[in-house]
Amino acid sequence: MNNFTFYAPTFFAFGKDTENDAGAYVKRFGGTKVLIHYGGGSVVRSGLLDRVKASLDREAIPYVLLGGVQPNPKSDLVYTGIDLCKKESVDFLLAVGGGSTIDSAKAISMGALYDGDFWDFYSGKKIERALPVATVLTIAAAGSEGSTNTVITHKGFKRGTGSDVLRPKFSILNPALTQTLPPYQTACGITDIMAHLYERYLTRTTDVEVTDRMIEALLLTMIHEAPRVIADPNCYEARANIMWAGMMAHNNSCGVGRTQDWNSHSIEHELSAMYDCAHGAGLAVTMPAVFTYVMHRDVMRFAQIAVRVWGCEMDFANPENTARAGIEALRKFLISIGMPQSFAELGAKEEDIPHMVDVLCNGNGRPGYIDGFVRLYPEDCEKIYRLMI
Ligand code: NZQ
Ligand code: ZN
Repeated sequence: MNNFTFYAPTFFAFGKDTENDAGAYVKRFGGTKVLIHYGGGSVVRSGLLDRVKASLDREAIPYVLLGGVQPNPKSDLVYTGIDLCKKESVDFLLAVGGGSTIDSAKAISMGALYDGDFWDFYSGKKIERALPVATVLTIAAAGSEGSTNTVITHKGFKRGTGSDVLRPKFSILNPALTQTLPPYQTACGITDIMAHLYERYLTRTTDVEVTDRMIEALLLTMIHEAPRVIADPNCYEARANIMWAGMMAHNNSCGVGRTQDWNSHSIEHELSAMYDCAHGAGLAVTMPAVFTYVMHRDVMRFAQIAVRVWGCEMDFANPENTARAGIEALRKFLISIGMPQSFAELGAKEEDIPHMVDVLCNGNGRPGYIDGFVRLYPEDCEKIYRLMI
């Protein structure tokens, strides 16, 4: 296991009706003027926004509102939010929504205390300070409610950045709030959570049994709970297990002390940047292609996950068969919960591949390749995109 530091001080309130305490938690964590940030309207329709506003009113904490975050959040609204925070002397951001809303809030939180362009932080500039951010989560997916990360799209580049200062001060996780999700979005979230686990499982570090076993446990949970929630969207218990698994999958407790992959994410981000497909849907198409391409780096690692997670039989004479069976089991599972399996289903076009490969490997300061479990050069990335057609 490699040396590591791990600092994850987010306070979690989990369970039914917990959103009604949002105001009390803002007060506890020092907020005196709040920006409530939200998405395209689901939280208005469900009445959640009104409940959150009422909880702030009960604590006599003033707030301003900024809605309209789109999935795969764009920089335009970030600039609007930064101006609003400066004008209104906001000192606390409350994101009410999914990963896109939380990521947009994190971007605003950095920009509000910075005189330059917030995009600098997505182009390599070190993040030193940000306004405090908290969340009321409405979809189990991105894990931004407990993570250091934020992903924003600006001028065609979809890029992420991260810092301990971006971890939310508190996150309210009420699984019942996710019951209004369309089945497709529920499945996209499940896929993203599984991707966060796979990206950590694919490591070059040896002897990481504790984190291997944690990842396997969370993947087994997803395999158990996903069909239950797809069959019955109101199943609170399945939603609860998925929601906590989603947080655990990405707050990096399963990723410490080991190298990680993230090439599937980088390859997917070009798809959701270009076609605005859902991130999870893009991952469903990307992961089997990437894993098939990089499998030979460590066949036994893929065989191990195939046996321990997917229940495949170990072929000792030819472990590659086992490794392939595990990738196939993942692919079939994702299809079974309603995820796409091809480029065309995402709205992606073969003729765009050279452009995507160039942006992926060279865009926004990239060094001509992407690195992870395997270092991938443009010719590798092109082959991987072609496996998805
Ligand atoms: O905008 P509204 O109207 O709220 O609708 C949203 C949106 O259309 C809807 N939705 C969310 N909760 C709902 C609901 N509809 C009904 N009922 C509810 N309870 O679902 C749609 C998707 O929401 P979004 O926030 O985009 O989903 P998600 O949480 O999957 O976030 C995706 C973004 O997170 C990034 C992705 O790249 C993508 O941009 N990621 C962020 C990460 C991080 N910060 O650590 C890591 C991830 O790997 C990921 O890259
Ligand atoms: Zn993801």
